[in-house]
Amino acid sequence: MAFLPSWACVIVGCFFASLAEASNFSDLYPPLWEESPGQFADYSVENGKYIINPWNYLERMGIYKILLNQTAGYFAKLAPENELNVLWGLPLQYGWQYSSGRLADPSQKTNCGYKPGGDLCVSVDSWWADMNYFLSALPFLAAVDSGIMGISSDQVVLLPPPKDQMEFCYDVSTCHSSFPETMSKWNAFYQYLQSPFCNFDNILKYLWAAHTSSLEDAVKKFEDRYEYYSKPEADFERSWYTTVEYLAALLFPTTLFIVHDFQKVLPPRILAATDVAPYISNFTDLQNTVLFGINILYDVNKYTDSAFLTAWKILMKTADTRALTLEVFEIILNMFN
Ligand SMILES: *[C@@H]1O[C@H](CO)[C@@H](O)[C@H](O)[C@H]1NC(C)=O
Ligand SMILES: *[C@@H]1O[C@H](CO)[C@@H](O)[C@H](O)[C@H]1NC(C)=O
Ligand SMILES: *[C@@H]1O[C@H](CO)[C@@H](O)[C@H](O)[C@H]1NC(C)=O
Repeated sequence: MAFLPSWACVIVGCFFASLAEASNFSDLYPPLWEESPGQFADYSVENGKYIINPWNYLERMGIYKILLNQTAGYFAKLAPENELNVLWGLPLQYGWQYSSGRLADPSQKTNCGYKPGGDLCVSVDSWWADMNYFLSALPFLAAVDSGIMGISSDQVVLLPPPKDQMEFCYDVSTCHSSFPETMSKWNAFYQYLQSPFCNFDNILKYLWAAHTSSLEDAVKKFEDRYEYYSKPEADFERSWYTTVEYLAALLFPTTLFIVHDFQKVLPPRILAATDVAPYISNFTDLQNTVLFGINILYDVNKYTDSAFLTAWKILMKTADTRALTLEVFEIILNMFN
């Protein structure tokens, strides 16, 4: 049974243990984390409300920074430095989207995201930025609503993008009326964090239930964005959405070390029309293999009419299979390192 690590072992971080060698946690943070607002007082105030512009990279990152800070207490007993806070997955993914050029305007009709000297503009035409909105604004506003952020529900408002304003919601009450199920799932996650019987496996269950609900709200809205991208990138977007459903069923532990390590396998730039995985010359072997693999996963899912995903979900119902699967992932990652 030595091959089967206990789930507890995964939790305390012996999974991807090599990363534990990282001496400085700040090396693992997403780009410009230090420069992002870290408290409400860093934002402007109008009529007694904090005004946040989520179409600016730093201001959206600040949402996460406050969220991570305010939830740190629930994870403090598990590990130092907030390392096991499962919300790390969100800002790290957003940071990868930024550093890989995925938050810029893919239609190139505006220069949003392209201005020289590092542009912090987040484009409403970016499929990635729009999907991420539902994984930043909604979890943040639900946290405000659940009372863990130290401000009241009507004290914060997000600014709309230059177009398609009807697709988004901007404050606690309008998000509740537009996306009631998702808001209540995020709320349930925060309620669970505060409960005395809280355990790590269940935290991940609540987290992934809310996460997938956010994505379901968003995915149909932004199908028109695919046409702005090369075919390989648009295919990757669709495949990535499917992959996240698999990761959700696995209850992938979205902690700082693990997500940081995992992101190295993702395409470090937008895919060009000529990119064919696994033969992209300046991608690592692992990036090529993973991209190839998730495209296959998408096809399998499509041609089996999601039967494969259904089977996967059943398989992943037990903690032992989840732990074994994570162990296999780790072995594969190490083969390439
Ligand atoms: C970690 O890195 C940051 C930024 O590079 C630096 O300010 C800080 O002093 C470092 N901390 C330690 C403990 O080395
Ligand atoms: C939360 O933010 C406050 C104020 O910026 C800071 O003093 C504190 O150390 C932060 N806590 C954590 C766990 O990051
Ligand atoms: C990667 O390869 C593509 C196509 O061969 C090329 O356009 C691009 O400049 C390369 N990027 C780097 C960072 O080498």
